[in-house]
Amino acid sequence: MSNLPLRLRHLPLAARLSLSFLIVVVLGGYLVSGLHMSEHHQNRDGREGLSMTDIEGAYHGVNSEAPLLLALNADHPGELDGQEPLEDWAKKALLQWLEGDADKIVPNWDNLDLGDEVPADLLDASCVGCHSRTADAELRAEPPLEYLDDIRAVAFSREISPSDIKLLIASTHAHSLGLATITLLLVGLIFATRFGPRLKGGLALAASGGLLFDLAAWWLARESASFVFLIVLGGLAHAGAMVLIGLLVLCELWCSDPKAKPQAS
Ligand code: HEC
Repeated sequence: MSNLPLRLRHLPLAARLSLSFLIVVVLGGYLVSGLHMSEHHQNRDGREGLSMTDIEGAYHGVNSEAPLLLALNADHPGELDGQEPLEDWAKKALLQWLEGDADKIVPNWDNLDLGDEVPADLLDASCVGCHSRTADAELRAEPPLEYLDDIRAVAFSREISPSDIKLLIASTHAHSLGLATITLLLVGLIFATRFGPRLKGGLALAASGGLLFDLAAWWLARESASFVFLIVLGGLAHAGAMVLIGLLVLCELWCSDPKAKPQAS
């Protein structure tokens, strides 16, 4: 096992203190980027919280049809055993409602001016028998379609354009130089600690490989959505390893080492 001759634990107090301050800053930075990530990207898909669709939307773009439209266009519920298909006029009315002006979907849901074609009534008559929270257990199906909030969740098709290429260039520029530098430093520090070579090697590889694959996947994901998982995986591997390295280095600096050999001075 070849190790750096330097052990952080043996640095003078002032050096250990300054390293600790900087590592706390770095740990804080990762915490804040986690928050920023969910602040910045969440709700791109119109639903609360950060989802894979949000991330896919940001890096690749998403074009997903409303679940209600998909179901109606697939002649649901007629395909289910023993179920009558929706009558043509009712299906047409619902499609018109969903495919029309998106701003009118919510107000028209229970718009009495639509006479026999009020969407809420059509859904009540043909769907809520199964799609309600209180339907019999053997009939009950997701998603519920009883209330306006239920409808909001499934009535909208989503088209999310990926971030502007100029933004991606600026972001790659800032992240690649900044993060590679911090990663280089922490990876250097972890090799000056008491911990086992496998742990140190594994964390160093996860931090640096994660960063490389994360940044590369930002670009690859523009072409193919299948790289979106690599953004998430690489990002998590990088950030997780960096946080662990930071904590281990802090421990090296301040925890006494029971196995320490007496220092040759
Ligand atoms: C006989 C019961 C029944 C009726 C009536 C019914 N559905 Fe369904 N629906 C189901 C079942 C079962 C599923 C499958 C859900 C599952 O896999 O849990 C489903 C799934 C769905 C889904 C989700 C599809 C997806 O991709 O997740 C939507 C949207 C939907 N139905 C809309 C409707 C609409 C609109 C109507 C009325 C026009 C309707 N359903 C009437 C039983 C029903």
